[in-house]
Amino acid sequence: MARRRQIYEGKAKILYEGPEPGTLIQYFKDDATAFNAQKKGTINGKGVLNNRISEHVFTLLAGIGIPTHFIRRLNMREQLIRQVEIVPIEVVVRNVVAGSLAKKLGIEEGTPLPRTIVEYYYKDDALGDPMVTDEHILAFGWASQEELHDMADMAIRVNDFLSGLFAGIGIRLVDFKLEFGRIWENEYGRIILADEISPDGCRLWDIATGEKLDKDRFRRDLGGEVEAYQEVARRLGLFPEGDGSDVLDLETHRKKRGK
Ligand code: TMP
Repeated sequence: MARRRQIYEGKAKILYEGPEPGTLIQYFKDDATAFNAQKKGTINGKGVLNNRISEHVFTLLAGIGIPTHFIRRLNMREQLIRQVEIVPIEVVVRNVVAGSLAKKLGIEEGTPLPRTIVEYYYKDDALGDPMVTDEHILAFGWASQEELHDMADMAIRVNDFLSGLFAGIGIRLVDFKLEFGRIWENEYGRIILADEISPDGCRLWDIATGEKLDKDRFRRDLGGEVEAYQEVARRLGLFPEGDGSDVLDLETHRKKRGK
């Protein structure tokens, strides 16, 4: 295949020029990082699983009226997406105390929150993605008041929907991170959901056992990362023939044969 023009390489994904103007190809790597890339590793098969899981979740969200950048999955590691101007804000939604919130306030992990909390982080690796408030976002023009409202509103709708979806398959949605992008339609900017939704950017705990089924397995050196991601995919009804390992094996065989 002809070399495609690479537009951007992030920590877990690569963006290539798409087949038509206004589109991009999002490639899911197996690379994993944590703590602003101070910790680096590879989770074999993660990209394949995240591509499938994110496709599934974005398709369901489109079904309840959340506009997203997802167009269609192209193959095991790639999906066609709409090109957006990324809003430089990570929106984190929390239902249960965990991670940085537990550390910052000295509250035990697993404490349920009396109400959902939405937090904003400014996307800047050099600064370590500092937490900011809506005041900073408006003052520095990272998003307008209307865009911020749209992002917060969508984040809550996504949380309500996904909390129910995961509860139905025995998983507690503890927290997650969203990213949004701007698309331009006759001079008007509109906010749509971008990036990915996968165990890389969510905390997913088994309801019965409390077992972590997300990237905390990598962050905290717990092991069993692929098995955890496969379990999420399996419960979502993806890879119905098995646990997904057959798909990953197939990919390994193809790679060995140089195809
Ligand atoms: P935190 O507890 O470390 O602030 O993370 C909250 C949620 O956001 C958790 O589900 C992981 C996700 N997250 C990312 O996806 N990317 C990041 O860079 C960070 C810090 C968190």
